[in-house]
Amino acid sequence: MGSKILVIHGPNLNMLGKREPEKYGTATLEEINRRIMDHGDRTGLGVEVFQSSHEGEIVEKIHLARTGFDGLIINPAAYTHTSVAIRDALMILDIPVVEIHLSNIYKRESFRHTSLIADVAVGQIAGFGAFGYLLAIDAIRDILGD
Ligand code: DQA
Repeated sequence: MGSKILVIHGPNLNMLGKREPEKYGTATLEEINRRIMDHGDRTGLGVEVFQSSHEGEIVEKIHLARTGFDGLIINPAAYTHTSVAIRDALMILDIPVVEIHLSNIYKRESFRHTSLIADVAVGQIAGFGAFGYLLAIDAIRDILGD
């Protein structure tokens, strides 16, 4: 059986396509999820995608990732910069976590330069748009030795 990974998209990412396209691109979340699923299929990895704009729902989904998943990719969106709860939930996991951002958060407002997630993830990918999710899948595959 191949490995299975969970991809979590945080708040406002369901508005991609309409939301500040100059920063986040014109692809919708549905289109990005299609690219993610296709890359999973191509590389023999099972992928589930989840989006929520609610902190508690994201925390609960991370709890569920303790069983049945071998890796987690998360774009915590605005919660990256604020959420101790999401950070704490990620610390419970013993599977590799990759943090991803569409935009290069370090080129933007200073409040986006701090991630409460970065040091509980294996690594962070930022600034490559939707392609970053594919890089994150490859990073997890490499870590898992798949
Ligand atoms: C984001 C960057 C965050 O600062 C922002 O709040 C988002 C999206 C990104 O993917 O570039 O919602 O995580």
